Amino acid sequence: MNTETNNPKAVIVIFGATGDLAKRKLYPSIHRLYHSGKLGDQFAVVGVGRRPWSHEDLRAVVKESVSSDDEAEAKIEEFSSHFYYHDFDVSSPASYQSLNTLLAGLEDTYSIPNNRMFYLAMAPEFFGTIAKFLKSEGVSKTTGWSRLVIEKPFGHDLPSAKTLNEEIRDAFSEDQIYRIDHYLGKQMVQNIEVIRFANAIFEPLWTNRYISNIQITSSESLGVEDRARYYESSGALRDMVQNHMLQMVALLAMEPPIKLNTEEIRSEKRKALRALRPFSKDEVDQFFVRGQYDAGTVDGNLVPSYLEEQNVDPNSNTETFVAGKLLIDNFRWAGVPFYIRTGKRLEKKSTQIVVQFKDIPMNLYYGNGNSMHPNLLVIHIQPDEGITLHLNARKLDGGTYAKPIKLDYQTNYNDIMNTPEAYEKLIHDCLLGDATNFAHWDEVALSWNFVDPISEKWAENKTLKPNYPAGSMGPKEADQLLEKDGYHWWNI
Ligand code: BG6
Repeated sequence: MNTETNNPKAVIVIFGATGDLAKRKLYPSIHRLYHSGKLGDQFAVVGVGRRPWSHEDLRAVVKESVSSDDEAEAKIEEFSSHFYYHDFDVSSPASYQSLNTLLAGLEDTYSIPNNRMFYLAMAPEFFGTIAKFLKSEGVSKTTGWSRLVIEKPFGHDLPSAKTLNEEIRDAFSEDQIYRIDHYLGKQMVQNIEVIRFANAIFEPLWTNRYISNIQITSSESLGVEDRARYYESSGALRDMVQNHMLQMVALLAMEPPIKLNTEEIRSEKRKALRALRPFSKDEVDQFFVRGQYDAGTVDGNLVPSYLEEQNVDPNSNTETFVAGKLLIDNFRWAGVPFYIRTGKRLEKKSTQIVVQFKDIPMNLYYGNGNSMHPNLLVIHIQPDEGITLHLNARKLDGGTYAKPIKLDYQTNYNDIMNTPEAYEKLIHDCLLGDATNFAHWDEVALSWNFVDPISEKWAENKTLKPNYPAGSMGPKEADQLLEKDGYHWWNI
C-alpha cells in the first residue's frame, strides 16, 4: 500500500465537532489509535463548529465519548488535552484565518510538521464552501501534506455529485481527497480481497462457470431514528445502495489487480462498476423492488411504521428497503445475478455475502428424501465476522447419503474486541496517505450513474405504501425477484 510512515504526526481538523458522528465515531476512533500507540504524542485535534464552545467544553465531550474504553483516567485526561475548539462562521474568511493561526501555534507546541487533515463531518451543502476557504485563506497550503476527508452523502445524484466534486477539486487535487465509505473500513469487507486472491481453491472457481448467483444482504433492525430530515430525501437507495452495497459488489466482481496498491485496486473496481448493466427507467420494476416499513415487532417490541416516525411526511414516498438484481456484463460474470438487499426495521442487524456455487452435473446421492444442498461460501461481515463454507459430506452416523455440513471460521469475541473499528482504520489510513479504502471520484460517479434511473423512476411513481411489517425480511416482491430465477434468499 502507499503508506509514508507508520508514525503519523499531524493536526486533525474536524468540521462538525459538536455533531453526532464526531461523538459516536471520530473521537473514540482517534482515542483507540492513541491508546494502541498508532498515534504518538505529536498530534492535535481541532474541533470546529458554530457553537460558542471552549476548549474545555470540547474536552468534556471527548472524555465522555471515550469513557467506556478501558483506560485510566489520567491517560484519558492526557489524550483530551490534545483537543482544541475553534468556533467559526462557515462563510467568513476571518474564521479561516484565525483557524490557520491556531493550527500554526499547535504545530509549534507539538512539533508537528506542517501536516493537516481536514475532516468534513457536517452537512454536505457546506463542503464546497469550506474547501474554497481552506484554499483561499491559505489553511490547506502546507509544506507537509494536506488532505480532505469527506463524509457521505457525496451529492444526491450524478449532476449534484459532479458539481460538488468540481467545487472540491478547485481546492484539492484528487489524491488529496479521501471520500469515506465506512464499509471499506470493515475488517471482513477488506477480507473479501484476501479470501479471493490468497486462496487457490476459490479464485479458479470465481466465475460464471461455477457460481450461480451472489447475494449481499445488509439488514438493520433499527428504524430511521432521528435522521428523518436527511433520510426523507435519501431513502435506502442513496443511503446504502449507491455507496456501501455497490462497493461490496465491486470488490466481489473485480479482476485480480496486478499489484495490491491503490491505483491498481481502484482501476479494477472501476472496471467492474463500468461493466454493471445499466437499467432504463422502464426496466426498473423488473430488476428492483422497493419497500417501506409498516408497524411491527422488532426484538419483542412494538414499533411504529415509517410514516409515523418523527419528521416523516405522512404521505412519504421514501423507500426504507431496496432489493435488486444486478448483472455484470463481462466474460467472468455474464449470466450470474448479483442480488442485493438492504433495509431498515428488518428482522435483525446483519451484513453478509452468500456465494452460491452451481450444482454438480449429476447427483449420485439423490433419493430417500435427500436433495443436495448447493455449496455456499458465506462471508459474515457483521455482527459475526468470519467465513463459512457449506459442503456436502457423509455424516459419521451410518447413513448412506450426503448431508450438508459447515466449515466455520469465526473470529472469537476477544479478536472482535481488539479489531479496529472501521473509522479507526480509515482515519489511520488517511494519516498514512493510503487512499485504497476510500472511494475514487470515478467510482462515485459510476455508482450514481447506475442508481439515478432507479431513483428517477421511483420519484415519478409516487405509489409506495408501507409494504412490509417491521421485524420481517422485507416485502414479498423481494422474494419473488429471486424465485423468478429459480433461487431464494439464504437467510443464514
Ligand atoms: C450509514 C447509513 O452509511 O450506514 C445509515 O447512513 C446506516 O443509515 C449505516 O444505518 C449502516 O452502517 P453499519 O456499519 O451499522 O452497517
